[in-house]
Amino acid sequence: MTDKSIPRVNLPSDARLDTLAVREGLPPSQWGEHSEALFLTSSFVHPNAATAAARFANEEEAFIYSRFTNPTVTMMERRLAALEGAQACIATASGMGAITLLVLGLLKAGDHVVCSHSVFGSTIKLLGGEFAKFGVQTSFVSQTDVAQWRAAVRPNTRLLFAESPTNPLTEVCDIEALARIAHDAGALLAVDNCFCTPALQRPIALGADVVIHSGTKYLDGQGRVIAGAICCSQAMIDEKLMPAMRSVGITLSPFNAWVVLKGLETLSIRVREQSARALQLAHWLEGQGAVERVFHPALPSHPQHELAMRQQAGIGGPVVAFVVRGRDAAQSRANAFAVIDATRICSITANLGDTKTTITHPSSTTHGRLTEDQRLAAGITQGLIRLAVGLEDPDDLKADLARGLPPA
Ligand SMILES: Cc1ncc(COP(=O)(O)O)c(C=O)c1O
Repeated sequence: MTDKSIPRVNLPSDARLDTLAVREGLPPSQWGEHSEALFLTSSFVHPNAATAAARFANEEEAFIYSRFTNPTVTMMERRLAALEGAQACIATASGMGAITLLVLGLLKAGDHVVCSHSVFGSTIKLLGGEFAKFGVQTSFVSQTDVAQWRAAVRPNTRLLFAESPTNPLTEVCDIEALARIAHDAGALLAVDNCFCTPALQRPIALGADVVIHSGTKYLDGQGRVIAGAICCSQAMIDEKLMPAMRSVGITLSPFNAWVVLKGLETLSIRVREQSARALQLAHWLEGQGAVERVFHPALPSHPQHELAMRQQAGIGGPVVAFVVRGRDAAQSRANAFAVIDATRICSITANLGDTKTTITHPSSTTHGRLTEDQRLAAGITQGLIRLAVGLEDPDDLKADLARGLPPA
């Protein structure tokens, strides 16, 4: 730290995750506030013209204009970077904004991306559609077949993009193996860590170069704001992402950053408790005759169970998906709709990461913009329901789901 840089909180260098989650950020202002301050200001005042010039020339680190620097946003970025074990973080207006900034900052026309075909539907649309218009090509491969990832790499591959576990089928990819493939090819590995969060999984420690977040989910944790972030090296932010952010302005508002900042304080206990309740429900669903299949990484029946337990601190995560039986696709869909419509506690909403349990039919909501072929390639069938388990009593949730399940 030089005397020209923004000061840091004086924490021990070996402070652990739970401590960082409540303490990392910025030192308090001259008023000594205990809870972090919300700096709702578009710009910052300089003491004189020479200082303004030095700050604009990056000779002095300071807050200038909230499109790219704001103290509340910096607190959130520092806290999330610390939790992910990353050097730095840049916050964005949404999770999709984070992926957009990553591609805008790192790639150019003619570059190639390899991505799992099981990632979030809008990510497929963004990489396979919007960025293809600008000459960035993406090959989609199986989430779990490492050989397919290796075979898809080309001389112009610059980025491997993975999400683990995936939404909604909780498919797990081998982050260490993908990092090796990326690095052998001189490319980078980015991992969307939305479902596990650093409370369960730290992709950078497993070899990933970049972690993507939709802060809208577990980082906020109570369904209040849309937010996103990229965690990576300081050099990547300084040289690639911040220049793109200054021009593009996919900025996180200080208010939303403040909400996420406070959400991070309870992240670990929420995600661990919600995961434990999700596993209880997963076991119960496996025992229901009307349920054909249950997806949760902590179930021994999950195809990547051992990998998931190794990679995710022995915890499956808060999301469970299950398939309701039906004689054909139309009846499976009708049965899935009946389960969803009979609930009185679960919220019928496509968002997840909330302390309130949410229930959705991925085929007609989160993955509704994909073609049927893309959906089937991603395993999204008509009987599939996704449950993002919150903090209600699991017995009440079982009764809520049992109400609409057809007789076996
Ligand atoms: C895994 C994953 N990544 C990214 C996103 C996009 O995040 P946002 O809605 O904050 O843009 C979502 C949203 O549902 C998601 O589930």
